[in-house]
Amino acid sequence: MSTWANLGLQDSASPLMEQLIFFHDHALLILVMITMLVGYLMFMLFFNTYINRFLLHGQLIEMIWTILPAVILLFIAFPSLRLLYLLDEINEPSVTLKSIGHQWYWSYEYSDFNNVEFDSYKIPTNELSSDGFRLLDVYNRIVIPMNSQIRILVTAADVIHSWTIPALRVKVDGTPGRTNQTNFFINRPGLFYGQCSEICGANHSFMPIVIESVPVNYFMKWISNNVNS
Ligand code: CUA
Repeated sequence: MSTWANLGLQDSASPLMEQLIFFHDHALLILVMITMLVGYLMFMLFFNTYINRFLLHGQLIEMIWTILPAVILLFIAFPSLRLLYLLDEINEPSVTLKSIGHQWYWSYEYSDFNNVEFDSYKIPTNELSSDGFRLLDVYNRIVIPMNSQIRILVTAADVIHSWTIPALRVKVDGTPGRTNQTNFFINRPGLFYGQCSEICGANHSFMPIVIESVPVNYFMKWISNNVNS
């Protein structure tokens, strides 16, 4: 999760988020180089007295400064497209989680496991334990096995919500009457926090998401306890 003065991206918890961070750094490097070069050229223009009264055309330089930027843009475009299609791929998910947005909380269903379902309300500040995160912790966390492909189905019951977890690079709108699909793969155990990111009403800020990533045998124990009860 994000803490104080974290201006960059959160640490990734999935391979594709790691790739997105690499791509971000790559694109930023190209942007900085272009900005520095153009900034230097514009700045130096103020301090020279070059005049050429017979300048009418410059075929060669026109060719260079048309083709060179196009080539540079290709170095951003191809990695971007590669990532775009990788993010959309569903790789034989072992667990499917359905999340339904409500005003203002999320509810979840494990359709593969006798449809285990529960609501996930935010813990109010006055009931928060001393190690809890204000406006971010919930009563019933999602439990997900680590190192497994997870499919997530997102929908909503009233207005548009968005199921967003930055560390897993997941951001899917929940729209009434539709079901959107994406997938993720968590490669470490821990708690991963997210929030709704579609302006959905007065308490939009107060419908957080918490994922508890655990080893597979812990998940089996948890889900079997919940199927039986
Ligand atoms: Cu739900 Cu914003």
